[in-house]
Amino acid sequence: MPKQKSAIEDSQALIEWYRGVKRDLPWRKNRDPYRIWVSEVMLQQTTVAAVIPFYERFMKRFPTLKSLAEAPTEDVIENWAGLGYYSRARNLHKSAQVLHSRGFPKTFAEFIELPGFGPYTARAVASLAFDEKTGVLDGNVIRVLSRRYGLKLEWWKPQGRNQLQQLADALAQVDQPADLNQGLMELGATVCTPQSPTCLLCPWAKVCVARHLHAIPEYPLKKPRRDREVWHWRPVVVEHDGSVLLVPNDYAPFLKGHWILPGEAEILSAPPSNFDYKGTVTHHDIFVSIGRSRRKPKAGEMKWVPMDRLSREIPASMIRKAIEKSRVTS
Ligand code: ADE
Repeated sequence: MPKQKSAIEDSQALIEWYRGVKRDLPWRKNRDPYRIWVSEVMLQQTTVAAVIPFYERFMKRFPTLKSLAEAPTEDVIENWAGLGYYSRARNLHKSAQVLHSRGFPKTFAEFIELPGFGPYTARAVASLAFDEKTGVLDGNVIRVLSRRYGLKLEWWKPQGRNQLQQLADALAQVDQPADLNQGLMELGATVCTPQSPTCLLCPWAKVCVARHLHAIPEYPLKKPRRDREVWHWRPVVVEHDGSVLLVPNDYAPFLKGHWILPGEAEILSAPPSNFDYKGTVTHHDIFVSIGRSRRKPKAGEMKWVPMDRLSREIPASMIRKAIEKSRVTS
């Protein structure tokens, strides 16, 4: 853990640097907590460059918390299309309704109680919108701190993460925690990049431990990769009167919590030789063989979705593809 004095010096140097170089991003125009919150949820899944067009479109459609809270869920899902992780859009919508009726809180402790606010988002919104002195930790920040302080921590485990969180919190004890936190993210995104960092542009170059040791690639530790699994998914497309049948997913380990086509899923030791197409969801490689049937399942929860509402109601492209392909070949 750095001494208090060096934490303050590090923070001041970083804030000054950030103010000189910060990018003009749409969520930095003002400190509206709603705008900041939406941006942080989107930025958890992809890069700034990829998020900007989605963010601008989403903000045009839902410019205020009220407009998001009062929108039908399908509209929110539709405007999330392309960003993936649709449970995030659902949680965003649920939280918007709570926040609209109760008002926006200001602290990490209150945000963390809401659906869809994890430790990262709760800290990000509390600090960026309301100047709470709390540190944010995302992949970029973990890399920057690990290098600067020469830390080889298992950051994917609670103990390693807590140590980094304490460090980020120590740095955030300044009058401008919003700039400090955005500075850490900006440094990770633009200078202290995973490969070939541009240390000449870094405000911490002189004090960076990994750089002094000529060992930058050793920091941070690499998270062991989860083994991939091969699955054979045999969905059945049941069509009736221009609608297709969906069931709650109670049989496949991928797309948990989604409505999917009825069918079967089986884990394999090697890819099958016959299949219609391949998809991937997290660590699952999914080989898909489509079936068709006129008969609906005998029991259980189910719903019919009209064909012209597929893109609104079924965000997962792997499911839509099965339906589209079954129509072409039938
Ligand atoms: N990544 C996550 N949050 C960010 C922000 N507010 N600005 C830039 N990049 C980010």
